[in-house]
Amino acid sequence: MSFDVRPLSNALGAEITGLNVGQALDNVTFKAIRKAYLDYQVLVFREQSISPRQQINFSKQFGPLDAHPSQGTNHPKGYPEILIVSTKTENGRDVGLRNAGPRWHSDLAYRKRPALGSMLYAVELPDNGGDTGFANMIAAYDTLPSTLKNAIDGQLAIFSSKREGIDTSHPAIRTHPETGTRSIFVNPQLTSGIEGMNDTDASALLNDIYAHCRQARFVYWHRWQPGDLVFWDNRCVLHIADHSRLDDPTYIRHMHRTTIAGDVPY
Ligand code: SIN
Repeated sequence: MSFDVRPLSNALGAEITGLNVGQALDNVTFKAIRKAYLDYQVLVFREQSISPRQQINFSKQFGPLDAHPSQGTNHPKGYPEILIVSTKTENGRDVGLRNAGPRWHSDLAYRKRPALGSMLYAVELPDNGGDTGFANMIAAYDTLPSTLKNAIDGQLAIFSSKREGIDTSHPAIRTHPETGTRSIFVNPQLTSGIEGMNDTDASALLNDIYAHCRQARFVYWHRWQPGDLVFWDNRCVLHIADHSRLDDPTYIRHMHRTTIAGDVPY
């Protein structure tokens, strides 16, 4: 099976066309996908038409899946591996997680083993809005001014989840287990502090780092097309959802997410 790869921006990301991920993939094809994933950090598989089972089967080839902690937002028809990210309601209740990813973050960074990657499949899209931003934390680390690099390198950051009641420490700068590249792992949604540093100093340092990471040269904004399945590497990419139309009752965006479990960061 062959497919085409086309870079999507100078920051990161590539589009994959000519491949149906719902089919069984041979080893050569799977290896080529893995290589593209490591080369581009975000892959956009176009024109997919996949069932929840097919999404789970494809995702599982990259590692075991993580169940998401959110209550009541898993797929209702017996697929606990699928998290529904949706603005839809049924009988006045949200059918999924409505406000996923309001700030830049890496999925499940507060877990002992944060997510390796996430796959988000567009089931229903709005006519406009609901883009997803992806930021390249390898490039951000490589270009970090030396004063910030010296201040953050070697520090342990604290990642917190109120929902799960978890605080976990991980290296603020982590090493990619497959490529050996280093990248910024702290993020504004889930990092609550730095071990051994007072809150004022930690906030000031983290805010300077975030301002660096948010620069347009590191970011690709994905405008969703019907049939897109987007797969990002949480070990070296931050992402954020555009929620600017979340309060508009005509705004319908319905997605299925699978999350692949990762290693303990080092
Ligand atoms: C997420 O943070 O996983 C959701 C991203 C999105 O809905 O665009």
